Amino acid sequence: MDILIMKIGGSIQDKLPGSFYQMIAQLQQTKKCYPLIVHGGGPMINTLLEKLAIPTKFVDGLRVTTKEVLTVVEMVLSGSINNEIVTQCQIKQLQAIGLSGIDHGLLKVKPVQTIEAIGFVGEVTEVNTAFLMELLENNIIPVISPIGMDETGQHYNINGDMAASAIAKALGGKLAFISNVPGVMKQQKDKSNVYSSLTQVEAEQLIKEKIITDGMIPKVRSAIGSLSVQMKQAVILNGLEPEDIANYLKGNEVGTKFIYKEEVAYV
Ligand SMILES: Nc1ncnc2c1ncn2[C@@H]1O[C@H](COP(=O)(O)OP(=O)(O)OP(=O)(O)O)[C@@H](O)[C@H]1O
Ligand SMILES: [Mg+2]
Repeated sequence: MDILIMKIGGSIQDKLPGSFYQMIAQLQQTKKCYPLIVHGGGPMINTLLEKLAIPTKFVDGLRVTTKEVLTVVEMVLSGSINNEIVTQCQIKQLQAIGLSGIDHGLLKVKPVQTIEAIGFVGEVTEVNTAFLMELLENNIIPVISPIGMDETGQHYNINGDMAASAIAKALGGKLAFISNVPGVMKQQKDKSNVYSSLTQVEAEQLIKEKIITDGMIPKVRSAIGSLSVQMKQAVILNGLEPEDIANYLKGNEVGTKFIYKEEVAYV
């Protein structure tokens, strides 16, 4: 059975209707797929940092993470948001377990390489897939907060999209980024005009033209980076339309799709 890796954006998590979790329950009960959730938490992290008067900034959609910022990121992601999503699953009778990438060595990381200093921001080098498969096969939904650890025990903040992409790549299956937009829009703020599919070359061109900016940059790069023979598709969908996910699984045109092509070298 296929695994459906869903990345729930921090942009949408607190606005998801109950029908979203009901839809996941239905997918699980009808054995359409094994659902797995990875989440973000950008807006709630921003709010708490602001309250604590800790400055925050982004480079290409990635949060510059000082030691102080990391403490707040972990509190929000592995504490508040992770627990809230598990709660929403449980009240729909879905068995869910909240984990961070620290638990059971789920996500091993190394620091991301960027030109600018970006602090404790990690990229995944290894996923404990055996443990995830054990949970999935027992009909338990892993709800994963994107925090990882290196071999010295240092914790890192991982962009939620990049964490979901690494997990999808390691497990195979289908990857859906559930966000607060209906896909990659041709003009920012024009929700009626969405690219139905994008190649890597097209996406990088849109980043250059600044049509794709902010958090959409790591999202499209993560979608493309996840593609392989085992992971043939990724999609960006709107979380306010839960039926979009069911439609997507049926193969209908919805959101922005990224499709693996054998002749393309993904870099
Ligand atoms: N061309 C584009 N089309 C659609 N959205 C875009 C585009 N360029 C930039 N964006 C921005 O990207 C945002 C989605 O990324 P963002 O990181 O904010 O959300 P998320 O990943 O769902 O949440 P989180 O990062 O908290 O998990 C949109 O809300 C929009 O403002
Ligand atoms: Mg994001």
